[in-house]
Amino acid sequence: LSGMVVAIDGPSGSGKSSVSRGVAARLGLRYLDTGAQYRAMTYWMLQNKVDVGDPAAVAADAGTPVIVSGTDPAAPAIGVDGEDVAVQIREADVTGAVSAVAAVPEVRARLIALQREIIGGGGIVVEGRDIASVVAPAAGAKIFLTASQEARAARRNTENGGGAGGVAATREALTRRDSVDSRTNALAAAPGAVVVDATELTLEQVIEQVAGIVIHTA
Ligand code: C5P
Repeated sequence: LSGMVVAIDGPSGSGKSSVSRGVAARLGLRYLDTGAQYRAMTYWMLQNKVDVGDPAAVAADAGTPVIVSGTDPAAPAIGVDGEDVAVQIREADVTGAVSAVAAVPEVRARLIALQREIIGGGGIVVEGRDIASVVAPAAGAKIFLTASQEARAARRNTENGGGAGGVAATREALTRRDSVDSRTNALAAAPGAVVVDATELTLEQVIEQVAGIVIHTA
């Protein structure tokens, strides 16, 4: 498995991050969260008062922030301009703006180049939206992780500590993000990807299933 690239794509709330980290830890692989990079880029834009609704403004600054991703599945780290932003990138302002920032081609080109650099010789689980289709089409194992919209909203709502508005509001926000995301990345399985539906499975069961798929394709 040492040179293998495992691509795990899927919509938000499918449990992708927990599954990807769990699979990487189990198989002794590195781990890369590409969503965290798009979030770090967005955080930097908001901090620097860039109008995230203006694609030209976002494009002009896409090359400026220095984004560093740790690849230890036990302690995923994300930094921008030397600041650890692991907590800040999960806040509502970033979540609300990230899809628009991620839709800017200059942002995608910059981060995809960075992702390919980190992937290097492999031995890594990479999670995102376009990993199997764009970032690493030669990945040895490709998983598309999905779940029903109810299960995704319930999961997100729990992660958010059952925030204002509850599951209904979370489901609405998810639907909105899916719709913006689907303009940039097909929220569908890439050719050759194995679809895993997490709706009725525990986290442990999904990790087990995905790790099994990886081992069988290796
Ligand atoms: O996975 P996560 O929900 O943290 O991703 C945040 C956002 O980053 C997504 O909603 C999407 O807009 C963007 N993204 C992307 N391509 C990726 C990973 C994330 O466009 N590979």
